[in-house]
Amino acid sequence: MSGTQPAGADAAQSPSTDGDMRMPPPGALPQGGHQGRPLTQLIHGGIDGDPLTGAVNVPVYLTSTYKQDGLGRHRGYEYSRTGNPTRTALEALIADLEHGRFGLAFASGMAAITAVLSLFSQGDRIALLGNVYGGTFRVIDQIFTRFGLTYVVADPTDDVALKEALAAPTKALLVESPGNPLGTVSDIGHIAELAHRLGVLTIVDNTFLTPYLQRPLDLGADIVVHSATKYLGGHSDLVAGLVALSDQALADRLYFIQNATGGVLAPLDSYLVIRGIRTLGVRMDRHQANATALAEWLAADRRVARVYYPGLPTAQGYDLQRRQADGPGGVLSVELADGGDHVAFLEALRYITLAESLGGVESLACHPATMTHASIPAPVRAQMGISDRLVRLSIGLEDVADLREDLDRALMAAFAGAAGSAVSDGVGAVR
Ligand SMILES: Cc1ncc(COP(=O)(O)O)c(C=O)c1O
Repeated sequence: MSGTQPAGADAAQSPSTDGDMRMPPPGALPQGGHQGRPLTQLIHGGIDGDPLTGAVNVPVYLTSTYKQDGLGRHRGYEYSRTGNPTRTALEALIADLEHGRFGLAFASGMAAITAVLSLFSQGDRIALLGNVYGGTFRVIDQIFTRFGLTYVVADPTDDVALKEALAAPTKALLVESPGNPLGTVSDIGHIAELAHRLGVLTIVDNTFLTPYLQRPLDLGADIVVHSATKYLGGHSDLVAGLVALSDQALADRLYFIQNATGGVLAPLDSYLVIRGIRTLGVRMDRHQANATALAEWLAADRRVARVYYPGLPTAQGYDLQRRQADGPGGVLSVELADGGDHVAFLEALRYITLAESLGGVESLACHPATMTHASIPAPVRAQMGISDRLVRLSIGLEDVADLREDLDRALMAAFAGAAGSAVSDGVGAVR
């Protein structure tokens, strides 16, 4: 099921007022309802091609407005902030992939998260579970608190702390599993069950695994958010955000917020996300095959103090991860051993590019303490376990042998100044 229109958005009944209501998609682009197995659904989910011409791709509707056939009579679309057929196709697709009923597309992951947070009101309290993305923390801590929202940070892997955090009236919780950058696995089903008992909405940021590997709505979550900038787009060529959910009343409110605040995804970017999603399965399979091989290699190297990757049997939450998801994904973090120079490490990389972001075809490295998580105060960061020697790697689709050589070269550079130490003696212990 991939319906993307909320109740009450009947074009015949709604006034044509530059989009107070979201209009249904035109008859020319019917809802998909294509399910199929996961790899098939990525290609045929949502709205499959263009029924008007037979084009196998959804057209890019570069238009801001739509001709009306008479006063108050239009063909389902009246203004592109309110609705655009290319965006509708992507919204139907993410709804299908997340096994939800409704989808919404935004100009960035942060725009999607901001829209979801706009569901709440002054005095409402949100629980942030574990290491949420730094930008998510920042928008709540520095913007939404100015409008009276309050928040608490709780450890999702500690049941007592979690129950304590939710003991005070709380409207919603937000969790990422695996967490960023330490890959912390949280029990989404258990958390959602606890939240439902307390009347708390469960919001899951599914950016790191995508619906190909994990479907939080099936596990009991209420709302799924994505930075589609990452694996869904997949090519580091766009910024986008998506939301999926099944509850009609919540979807109505979110469509209203999307239209009222206007942070919508442009038609061309909507098309590019659809195009990215078509190859998501093959890309994710390769991302995690490469990541698993490198995580195993790094874990056996004495120059590395610790590897954080949910695909390693020694990782926190390994069994849970295998139960609730279809794979560990393609992101791992590495803490260099004592004496390792993270600056030298990062600057010696040749194929793995030092850059923000993740989920593209190319491998990227980032330094969470000064990049993705810089907006989190240092003491909070330290409490979270994000040290200065921690490097996060988004493993791409390159030949894994080249990536291994790249990491080996970077590790040599990191310990070049520590010659003769126990760690440098272990250089290249395992290839
Ligand atoms: C887990 C997660 N959620 C949300 C975001 C924000 O997405 P965007 O950069 O598309 O606004 C990011 C960005 O890195 C992220 O990693």
